[in-house]
Amino acid sequence: MSQARLPPCIPLPLEHKLLVTVIEKAKDWALMHGVGMRDKKHFTKDSIQIAPFVLLPSPFPSTEFNKAVELQPVLNELMHKVAHDVEFLEHTLQNALQVDEFTANLYDIWIKVREEGITQSISLGLFRSDYLMQCTEANVIKQVEFNTIASSFGAITSNLPAMSRYILRQLGHGDLIKKMPENGALSGLCSGIIEAYDLFGVANAIVIFVVEEVSYNICDQRFHEFEISEKRPDIMIHRKTLNELYEETTVNDKKQLILEGRPVAVVYYRSGYEPSQYPSSREWDARLRVERSSAIKCPSIQYQLAGTKKVQQTLASPGVLEKFMGTGATTNSVRDIFTGLYSLDFDESGERAVDMALADAERFVLKPQREGGGNNLYGPDVREALLRMRHSRERAAYILMERILPPLVSGYVVRPGAPVPPPLCDLVSELGIFGVIIGTKEKIFSNRQVGHMLRTKLADANEGGVAAGLGALDSPFLLDS
Ligand SMILES: Nc1ncnc2c1ncn2[C@@H]1O[C@H](COP(=O)(O)OP(=O)(O)O)[C@@H](O)[C@H]1O
Ligand SMILES: [Mg+2]
Repeated sequence: MSQARLPPCIPLPLEHKLLVTVIEKAKDWALMHGVGMRDKKHFTKDSIQIAPFVLLPSPFPSTEFNKAVELQPVLNELMHKVAHDVEFLEHTLQNALQVDEFTANLYDIWIKVREEGITQSISLGLFRSDYLMQCTEANVIKQVEFNTIASSFGAITSNLPAMSRYILRQLGHGDLIKKMPENGALSGLCSGIIEAYDLFGVANAIVIFVVEEVSYNICDQRFHEFEISEKRPDIMIHRKTLNELYEETTVNDKKQLILEGRPVAVVYYRSGYEPSQYPSSREWDARLRVERSSAIKCPSIQYQLAGTKKVQQTLASPGVLEKFMGTGATTNSVRDIFTGLYSLDFDESGERAVDMALADAERFVLKPQREGGGNNLYGPDVREALLRMRHSRERAAYILMERILPPLVSGYVVRPGAPVPPPLCDLVSELGIFGVIIGTKEKIFSNRQVGHMLRTKLADANEGGVAAGLGALDSPFLLDS
């Protein structure tokens, strides 16, 4: 199938001199509004450089954008129910646990805190559901994954529409800005943290952001701190690594997590989603300590487990959505966003999936139980990995997913240190919709969609992580259907 192409927001290419001038303006706008990142090669806390961005907003069909927005509360609730269904999670993760140490470590924490009795029944979810469009007859969104931990770029991308509006005006196309949706992701995500803080309801309590040893994506994290401080001057936020949590926190007899003598209301993880972030048993001990405490976790351990690829694949199996959502139009619209997802468990259906993928590896992506980008296998690597793992239980740690073929868009990607102007390239965009949910097993207190992010990569790149240097931040330009 040849890839469809969406029309750009204005005729391209731009004339050379105009392009150079407008990129210079855009770079300064970006730097002066925190569309930035720390330099990985020459790290210093004294400066930020521009984060990679797409010069003009990329086209996205409005009907599909609106569909994703409308589905977010439905997906939030679905994942909340999944996370609180002990039997389902146990059954779903069983085989992967045998061969995946990282998931097994998370799972062990979940078992321990349930055996001891859950101290804090409220969970806070700052979720992001990611989509690529599939070009079939029409372009329809298909879910890539559902993030339940450290869903990033809500903050920076909340600034981006203003940058795109500025650039469009500089190019004499100010009339087009009405096609760009406002993005309230930053304030929406922060409202979730504030609401959880108030539900905790202890005077003098603080909030902890769990961060990496070195934060390259500092703007995205700090904006949350600035926003919360502006809205709620009474809330103090501390940034701590898992190792610092291990060294500096205690749990008192009321099971409160204590840092510098003050109880912790909310622990928001911007780290803790991949094995390298737990270099020793100390980090795991810290995670367990937090989980045992009365602090409200974002995410709680069960939310994190619900966000695994294995759960995503199981939800797409026949009858599973109905178990959580019943039958009806809403359930159908959720099923419509799923693409083919297959278990590679050591059984008959797993065997069929292996055969299917070996017959046409280009059609699939092979995914381990990992987050953070750069872990999936594509094309020839799918084949090679499956031939290697075919007779090993190791394969249960992976799922097989149909490869989504998104429509092409044309655009200029502006990167730090790259020659100006960049070439006009074929790109593809991935939409993320943010959601906030707060609740216990019995009761959901809040559930809403709060904003979006668009991330765009070269059409021939497999993955588009912005922090990994492959993708670029973007904003949708809505196309009428
Ligand atoms: N089924 C798919 N078809 C095409 N590209 C995909 C598919 N699944 C993932 N990708 C690409 O790989 C990237 C990473 O995959 P994802 O499932 O989001 O894992 P991670 O948890 O590492 O972010 C996505 O952002 C997307 O660019
Ligand atoms: Mg992803």
